[in-house]
Amino acid sequence: MGHCTTPSHCATIPTVKPSVLVTRKVYQEAIDYLRQHCEVDYEATDDGLSPEDLRRRVAGKSAMVSQLTDRIDAAFIDSLDGVRVIANVAVGFDNIDIPAATRKGILVTNTPDVLTETTADFAFALLLAAARRVVEGHQFVHAGRWRHWAIELLVGHDIHHATLGLFGMGRIGQAMARRARGFSMRILYHDAIRAPGQVEQELGLEYTSAEELLRAADFVSVHVPLLESTRKFIGAAQLRMMKPTAILVNTSRGPVVDEGALAEALEQGVIAGAGLDVFENEPHVHPLLLKLPNVVVAPHIASASVATRRRMSVMAAENAVDALQGRRPANLVNAELWQQ
Ligand code: DGY
Repeated sequence: MGHCTTPSHCATIPTVKPSVLVTRKVYQEAIDYLRQHCEVDYEATDDGLSPEDLRRRVAGKSAMVSQLTDRIDAAFIDSLDGVRVIANVAVGFDNIDIPAATRKGILVTNTPDVLTETTADFAFALLLAAARRVVEGHQFVHAGRWRHWAIELLVGHDIHHATLGLFGMGRIGQAMARRARGFSMRILYHDAIRAPGQVEQELGLEYTSAEELLRAADFVSVHVPLLESTRKFIGAAQLRMMKPTAILVNTSRGPVVDEGALAEALEQGVIAGAGLDVFENEPHVHPLLLKLPNVVVAPHIASASVATRRRMSVMAAENAVDALQGRRPANLVNAELWQQ
């Protein structure tokens, strides 16, 4: 059996139930599961807690079930006393200062895999919508402007047989590639770590430099985590490398793309369009992006299917309970806190 390097995680099962703070609304199944094993302090709202209330409510808790909108920075982590696990209801964990949590001996977990296909579905939907002007068509009909069929009415860009450039070939990047194969696309990708040969072969992937990808792709879709090295990874210079007919899709994290530079590039016709689910300073969206007809925007909902959001909620609850009961949580981010 595995054991922690921090003995407090591995104490024998306590006789009193540990207490957990759930910072925002999650699916009820997660709360029901937590209540079987813990005392639950549940903030059952979508707004969640102010930083002050978060600090107040977390006092005396052994675990937190958090969301990407909770800023769990080093100062907050340092102020924690008794929290053994932070279970984030997201695959991304850029809202949590992982090194600070690790220093403090706090386990951090995420919810990978369950949202891969759902997120790729949505990224592909944004790609299709932006290329084929689905939202513009919808608005056109709703506005009563449809008078007759016309040869150039809302003409867009073909997806089939076009070239897709994927930044990031992790789980979601691969799921995008599988979809692209169904559209007979050529698939280029770039990643800091090259995918295994077998994956490249199965998915028909071509590994390229970032620059080659940007220059050759008709569609560029971003699937990298937010790290210091990926912040503003797509900026003015990268946008200028893209084809004027190209479309950018971002379902990863907003700060990976320089939003101001993107808005300008779209306005000036440097690239043809964008499909965006994430933004630099959510829920704020660069005002220019909201004025441009060639931009499809969504409110960070790529993983938002009922089944997936429910599964993410339950998975986070299971991660928290496993950690509290001395079992290695299935989705441990700071694995160095746990040794086999
Ligand atoms: C995540 O999980 O990181 C997404 O952004 C929300 O599903």
